[in-house]
Amino acid sequence: MNVAVVRETYPGERRVALTPGALAPLTKAGWNILVESGAGTSAGFSDDDYQAAGAEIVGERHEAFQRAEVVLQVRTLGTNPESGRGDLDLLRPGQIVIGMCDPLGNPEAVRELADRKATLFALELIPRITRAQSMDVLSSMATIAGYKAVIQAADHLPKLFPMMMTAAGTLVPAKVLVIGAGVAGLQAIASARRLGAVVQAYDVRPVVKEQIESLGAKFIELNLNTGDAEDKGGYAKQLSDEQVQKQQQQLADIVAECDVCITTAAIPGRPSPLLVTADGVRRMRPGSVVVDLAAERGGNCELTKPDEIVTEQGVTILGPTNLPSEVPQHASQMFAKNLSTFLLLLTNEGQLDINLQDEVIRDTLTAKDGQVQNQRLRDMLDLGPLVLPETTPPTNHLAEAPTET
Ligand code: NAI
Repeated sequence: MNVAVVRETYPGERRVALTPGALAPLTKAGWNILVESGAGTSAGFSDDDYQAAGAEIVGERHEAFQRAEVVLQVRTLGTNPESGRGDLDLLRPGQIVIGMCDPLGNPEAVRELADRKATLFALELIPRITRAQSMDVLSSMATIAGYKAVIQAADHLPKLFPMMMTAAGTLVPAKVLVIGAGVAGLQAIASARRLGAVVQAYDVRPVVKEQIESLGAKFIELNLNTGDAEDKGGYAKQLSDEQVQKQQQQLADIVAECDVCITTAAIPGRPSPLLVTADGVRRMRPGSVVVDLAAERGGNCELTKPDEIVTEQGVTILGPTNLPSEVPQHASQMFAKNLSTFLLLLTNEGQLDINLQDEVIRDTLTAKDGQVQNQRLRDMLDLGPLVLPETTPPTNHLAEAPTET
């Protein structure tokens, strides 16, 4: 069984799908690992490192695709819509692709892979259940983004984060506000606290209060009458227009008082909720910084421009969309751990085994046998219900056998 790790082609992407340290359990499980030459270079892993860990280096990308049953990527077509197109002609029917593909944001890309009869597993759809935590790439990458958002904010702020009592006077600590206390938000709170800031945090789900407080931050409660703000999957529900307006108004007073505002609010499959208005930004003191982690889906701040630095009345607004790639070595290490654990779930006694009884496998399978498999994506694409090929009923040989008289 051959599995290929290919070089990432999305502009500026420095991560790699598997690191040398993640290869041992896979080779032990029967996988022969092919690595496209240079695939790990930008993350700090050389071809020699991969070879020493038991991989075979393949010079040409098309050869890696040609020989592999499974291709591993950080970004498949859905998250690499331009450069990823070059791989479509390299795919062959039945070939398995595993990686991130933004299925809810770009379902059309899933259809394109289905049209090529490739089998696609979308890592974003790994359910957030305890058993799947070790495969949850969204959580690993959000952890990195939360940390890095704080570092970027500290870098742009014309103040220091910690309180300092020096012979040259006392410096008061920076005030940081984190909006959205999911994975990225909690890591941002922890990182800002480690740097010495005074941190407050807000989330529409009151259940996170305890987690916020356990990290040493103050939980902000707004008066929105949301009732149960959480859906069955533990994610935030969408607010009504009236609640959104109230939220923006009440948050504006708190945002105006902070030096740094890090926004991470997200509802899966929906545009980012708008939480910090342009007027809210204009009420901040000059020199303050907003880091909007939700920039890719429209942003939580009205003035955010993806991957640009915007300045409004002296306030800096950052909208980075690929922070994990700025820490490529650790991001790749975490991604590789998630991905290799998932690949092992598809491996049984040295053979590939797509066991659809397993919820993690079933939820992540988006394309197979020429069809988009996930019903939510089919609805988004107006494809109607999935029709499975008719299976031939098992033959009852005994019944058909001629009876001896
Ligand atoms: P998550 O789902 O764990 O957390 C999102 C939080 O937002 C939840 O706690 C939710 O309750 C809260 N929320 C939703 N609507 C809200 C509202 N109206 N008001 C206040 N809180 C609200 O998501 P995770 O994994 O922490 O990711 C957060 C964001 O960071 C996502 O948009 C994700 O795409 C983005 N991200 C950005 C990266 C980058 O490089 N820019 C990298 C990784 C993630």
